[in-house]
Amino acid sequence: MIRFEEFDKAWPDGTLALGNINLEIPRGQFCVVLGPSGAGKSTLLRAVNGLIKPTRGRVMINGAELNISSQRLLRQQVAMIHQHFNLTTRMSVANNVLAGLLPVVSTARALSGWFRPEHRAKACRMLEEVGLAPEHLKRRAGDLSGGQQQRVGVARAFMLNPQIVLADEPVASLDPKISRDILSLIRDAAREHHTTVVCSLHQTDLAREFGDRIVGLRDGAIVFDGAPAEFTDACIHSLYSGAQWETPSEHSDAASTHLTLAHA
Ligand SMILES: Nc1ncnc2c1ncn2[C@@H]1O[C@H](COP(=O)(O)OP(=O)(O)O)[C@@H](O)[C@H]1O
Ligand SMILES: [Mg+2]
Repeated sequence: MIRFEEFDKAWPDGTLALGNINLEIPRGQFCVVLGPSGAGKSTLLRAVNGLIKPTRGRVMINGAELNISSQRLLRQQVAMIHQHFNLTTRMSVANNVLAGLLPVVSTARALSGWFRPEHRAKACRMLEEVGLAPEHLKRRAGDLSGGQQQRVGVARAFMLNPQIVLADEPVASLDPKISRDILSLIRDAAREHHTTVVCSLHQTDLAREFGDRIVGLRDGAIVFDGAPAEFTDACIHSLYSGAQWETPSEHSDAASTHLTLAHA
């Protein structure tokens, strides 16, 4: 379980990227983070793998606070999927997937390309799981299409059976059909491995289709937290319009407890 407690992140120039975030994400949930550009989505995700240190408050994973001593373990338990895939394009598909083992394999060994047979077998299984046929294994990653590259990104992320996968706009560079395919893959792999997913998106239709839960961020604050069915068109308008957040009138009292006012 991921838990943010009174979490603030201010940058040295004074920008408050996140303010007073309180959020609990249970194990196995597919939590989608929405919000306009600059809302703090990437900062929120990066706080979960320790890349961003809080100015105030803390992030806990399974009850333990993230700190310097948890970094090593964190690298094994938290994997990332990126918007621009972040593959080493001159390397083979197989070696890119095997790079998911870097937290547990020495760099020298990885550079020499020597991996244990069981690791190679796992990489093949992962590639199969993301729908890439074995003939792609030896291809140069940079020669694949965008959708295929992200399949490799998904396979790499799941190599160590992580507890948590952070996906920062994983389909922002892909067309709608491929975007759906990739999100299905992430969701299926997460179900298979009982992985928690925190995924930022900018497509609200995909958020409603794939999320178990939607968290709406604006100006560094959570302004919506609820089920996709509660995330109405009025919520979308409020989230992206820049106007003061208002509780949409069609919300029941129960649903409106999920809404908090954006700080002025
Ligand atoms: N390294 C940084 N230094 C200073 N400001 C930053 C840095 N990274 C992000 N920001 C600022 O923090 C805010 C939140 O950014 P970010 O989390 O990237 O938003 P999003 O992913 O929702 O677009 C923005 O105002 C952005 O300009
Ligand atoms: Mg971002």
